[in-house]
Amino acid sequence: MHKIVITGGAGFAGSHIVDETCRQHPNSRIVILDKMTYAGDVRNISHHVFSNRAQLLVGDISDLETCQRAVKDASLVIHAAAESHVDNSFSNSLEFTRTNVLGTHALIEACRRERVPKLVHISTDEVYGEVMAGSATEEDVLRPTTPYSSSKAAAEMILRGYIQSYHAPIVIIRANNLYGTRQFPEKIIPRFICHLLTGQRLPIHGNGHNRRHYLSTSDFAQAVLFIADKGDIGETYNIGTTEEYTNLEMAQLICEHFGKEVNDLVDFVPDRPFNDARYSISWDKLKSMGWQPKNRLRDDLGLLVDWYRNNMSRYEELFDLRDMPNTAAVS
Ligand SMILES: NC(=O)c1ccc[n+]([C@@H]2O[C@H](COP(=O)([O-])OP(=O)(O)OC[C@H]3O[C@@H](n4cnc5c(N)ncnc54)[C@H](O)[C@@H]3O)[C@@H](O)[C@H]2O)c1
Repeated sequence: MHKIVITGGAGFAGSHIVDETCRQHPNSRIVILDKMTYAGDVRNISHHVFSNRAQLLVGDISDLETCQRAVKDASLVIHAAAESHVDNSFSNSLEFTRTNVLGTHALIEACRRERVPKLVHISTDEVYGEVMAGSATEEDVLRPTTPYSSSKAAAEMILRGYIQSYHAPIVIIRANNLYGTRQFPEKIIPRFICHLLTGQRLPIHGNGHNRRHYLSTSDFAQAVLFIADKGDIGETYNIGTTEEYTNLEMAQLICEHFGKEVNDLVDFVPDRPFNDARYSISWDKLKSMGWQPKNRLRDDLGLLVDWYRNNMSRYEELFDLRDMPNTAAVS
């Protein structure tokens, strides 16, 4: 029986990768290695863990022994564990280096020692830095600008060293921003949805003109497994979408869904110490292999809002539920 290890599988993107892996690999043993930080939630994976479909190993990827225990006999490791919130990286950047850089190093060293035949590493479009015109290809120079993106780029550099020195069987994925259920409401889409559900105003960094692309987690998870299967060792693949919104357009889209006027609800708040104006990647390489994104945020927004409405009790400590209309519907 094949064993597939997914680090960070109790988090947002990781849990959707777990769902897709369970669906596509019904005969494999799935092991989730997760430290269960504030971003990890057992409810994201409970449907698989309680049915014994997946096993949760609580541990830190920066601990080599933990990693070695987790990846022993694995035929595939998908590495999605990370400190992922850019805002936090300005105040707590050493934690980002510890998890994202040292953690990735410990994990690949464990994979090398245990002779794991493939590691798929999840990176981000943010490693390219700001792209104002055109789109970055996989060959472009990495110019990260924040402690988060620098730590993700540094992790990639460690992996490149392993590819060259040890012929380590690594495939790197750089993805656009993601949207979907289970995303911790520190990121813009769930945060705005939760603010509107609890009758609060929408804080927007700077002038709201920063742009981001948004890819659905279901497209993303399918692309990750597609690349795990078809991607060449040592190669990097961008996963992208054409769905691009400024932060203000995002606020408008979500306000429209709630039947609200955006200008009545936004507060412009001081910007991050650095905030890339735009990211843009080309995913022609993946397209030429037959992958295309299928979903659009506009079409998925209703389901997303319903999910947060039904799961607001998870975020009770962050939002005051007393102001929430229809709180009876909160599970
Ligand atoms: N969310 C996005 O928009 C997006 C876009 C592109 C790439 N990515 C990348 O995808 C991956 C997953 O992102 P996400 O948004 O799901 O993050 P997340 O913050 O929702 O989840 C991260 C998970 O990693 C776990 N974790 C954190 N530190 C750990 C450690 N030291 N050891 C073991 N587990 C640890 C957390 O408990 C959590 O379950 C990250 O590598 C991120 O850089 C995310």
